[in-house]
Amino acid sequence: MLKVGFIGWRGMVGSVLMQRMLDDGDFKGIEPIFFTTSQVGQAGPDVGVDVPPLQDAFDIESLKALDVVITCQGGDYTEKVYGDLRQSGWKGYWIDAASTLRMDEAATIVLDPVNRDVIDAQLARGARTFVGGNCTVSLMLMGLGGLFEADMIEWMTSMTYQAASGSGAKHMRELLNQMGGLRDSVTTELADPASAILDIDRKVTAAMRAGEFPIDNFAAPLAGSLLPWIDKPMESGQSKEEWKASVETNKILGLQDNPIPIDGLCVRIGAMRSHSQAFTIKLRRDVPIDEIEDRLARHNDWVKVIPNDKDATIEGLTPSAVTGTLNVPVGRLRKLAMGGDYLTAFTVGDQLLWGAAEPLKRMLRILRE
Ligand code: HSE
Repeated sequence: MLKVGFIGWRGMVGSVLMQRMLDDGDFKGIEPIFFTTSQVGQAGPDVGVDVPPLQDAFDIESLKALDVVITCQGGDYTEKVYGDLRQSGWKGYWIDAASTLRMDEAATIVLDPVNRDVIDAQLARGARTFVGGNCTVSLMLMGLGGLFEADMIEWMTSMTYQAASGSGAKHMRELLNQMGGLRDSVTTELADPASAILDIDRKVTAAMRAGEFPIDNFAAPLAGSLLPWIDKPMESGQSKEEWKASVETNKILGLQDNPIPIDGLCVRIGAMRSHSQAFTIKLRRDVPIDEIEDRLARHNDWVKVIPNDKDATIEGLTPSAVTGTLNVPVGRLRKLAMGGDYLTAFTVGDQLLWGAAEPLKRMLRILRE
């Protein structure tokens, strides 16, 4: 039985991973060992099988006893522990949600409905380090997998509408506090249907700009606004989130030697945990829209093609419809005015599920096959 160590299982991504593994009975047939950075010796969580007391996540000797490490603890932990553990001679499988190791030569980015062939080839080659992809990249590939599989894409842009959860749990709380603050600033006026909307708007704008508006985490108002910058700046003028689109997609697909250009702007919006993206896709040739829809729909069990009509779109192609599910709807599919080889599409996905926990959970299953 594989000895599997879990690190960072109490955080937001870790909790989603735990729940998904419980849902699918994944703790049966492994020997789970839970680690902690602060509560060594306390009882482990109830996952339906016996687990030993919590072990020290920084103790290389304890980690060396594992066949598999799954970590959702974050990049700082990976930086502190991974190198030492490997240098100690440990040959186990490291499965990581953090971005730290993604672009390392030795690491494979996992998204098995899209790149099972790459994962299998890497395993056959003896690869031991597997990392979940950036959430927008993974969700884009789950939605558009059918077009990549058929090598139909010459280049594309991805314009994102990213949820607060991508920044972390504290940011989700701050977004809600911002929303509440805006409403609280005009409670009296909202109760009076005769009050003037421009007065309401003036008050809301003043509240958003006031010194006491809660912006410790986002550094700016997000509720009632948006933030067109995610992550650090790169020399290219891209944000790091924008830079990841092309490098990670091409690594996931094994296309590093002949990459498909992908670029766009990444924007934080006031959604809770589902990321959305709008694409302009330059097709290699003019493919009929029904063939495109068919290829998209058949690519994997979670993608759902939404007809390009208003009712179906606002019912099924939104963060509120998708959050908490593994569905990845893709819609607004139509040819652009630029010509038959220009396609537009829009997709939505839960960034904590396919965007984070699910590919790791599935990688553990692949190791058990
Ligand atoms: N970097 C992403 C975001 C989340 O900020 O939304 C994780 O991939």
